[in-house]
Amino acid sequence: MSFRTIEWRDNAVIMLDQTRLPVEERYTSYSDYRSVAEAIKGMVVRGAPAIGVAAAMGVALGARGIIADTQESFFQQLENVCDVLARTRPTAVNLFWAIERMKRRAGELKGQPLDAICAGLQAEAIAIEQEDLAICKAIGRNGAALIPQGATVLTHCNAGGLATAGYGTALGVIRAAHEAGKQVRVVADETRPWLQGARLTTWELMKDAIPVTLITDNMAGFFMAQGEITCCVVGADRIAANGDTANKIGTYGVAVLAKEHGIPFYVAAPCSTLDLTLDTGSQIPIEERPSTEVTHIRGQAIAPEGVQVRNPAFDVTPARYITAIITERGLVQGNYRQGLAAL
Ligand code: MRU
Repeated sequence: MSFRTIEWRDNAVIMLDQTRLPVEERYTSYSDYRSVAEAIKGMVVRGAPAIGVAAAMGVALGARGIIADTQESFFQQLENVCDVLARTRPTAVNLFWAIERMKRRAGELKGQPLDAICAGLQAEAIAIEQEDLAICKAIGRNGAALIPQGATVLTHCNAGGLATAGYGTALGVIRAAHEAGKQVRVVADETRPWLQGARLTTWELMKDAIPVTLITDNMAGFFMAQGEITCCVVGADRIAANGDTANKIGTYGVAVLAKEHGIPFYVAAPCSTLDLTLDTGSQIPIEERPSTEVTHIRGQAIAPEGVQVRNPAFDVTPARYITAIITERGLVQGNYRQGLAAL
């Protein structure tokens, strides 16, 4: 791929600023964990797996910045670093998964000189990033067989290389089918209000010369009714034990439309997106974002000042609408509770 979403370089975290795409391809360097937390909140980096990688690198940066005379003081301050990063975005469980993994590694390193602990945390964060890339490729391999030759695949939001360490989950499946020589076309929902589909999915697919057509969110039903959509593939932010899946707001509507038209609806996600502690999707915390994201586009008001607004960033698609969940460890279909637990 011709871009890096996030990387650790020279003791800093370098991120492609996704708020500026597709107009500008700008990389920003972060050298303290608070600015990484702000970047996660502000959508500089977004997408569940990429948020996890950013949080892990944030913990490693935070550890390096700690001034402590004792191990006790170091671990207390590290706990604070983790809390700040955990308070950024509530829905994507990969954030919490990555922070927990970093804490576990820090626990294993306890007793070693502080320099060695910091080096170990840096290595762990880089490992999370590299593993994510390998996981996305495995998801792609496992899902590619579901995409028929000549398919038109509808996707929502951006679950691509930009939302992961590279390659993507939903777009990973599409990339793998394309690399296998299948002719695949993508229909990208624009994905209001942040326009991840219009700004990001189209950008990265066009870079890879994968045919993509942009539509507004309210056109999906039209194209399904016309028989123009073969299947839908989307990503996930959190999957409950029964298979209910939180993903970008609007995903639920796409899934209901797909069922009405008899179109397969697939969710592609790494196992780090599973939250088997939650029985059903109704327990998934849904992030509500600022009202200006709905009332304004690029600083321009599109609604009367003072209008009441709701802005949930995610919705939950009940498992009964999902044809299969594609993970790096294989496909889950039918009895999700059993299948996901077995993974
Ligand atoms: O608000 P965002 O842009 O972080 O939401 C992203 C999504 O909903 C993605 O579909 C999901 O995180 C999966 S990314 C592989």
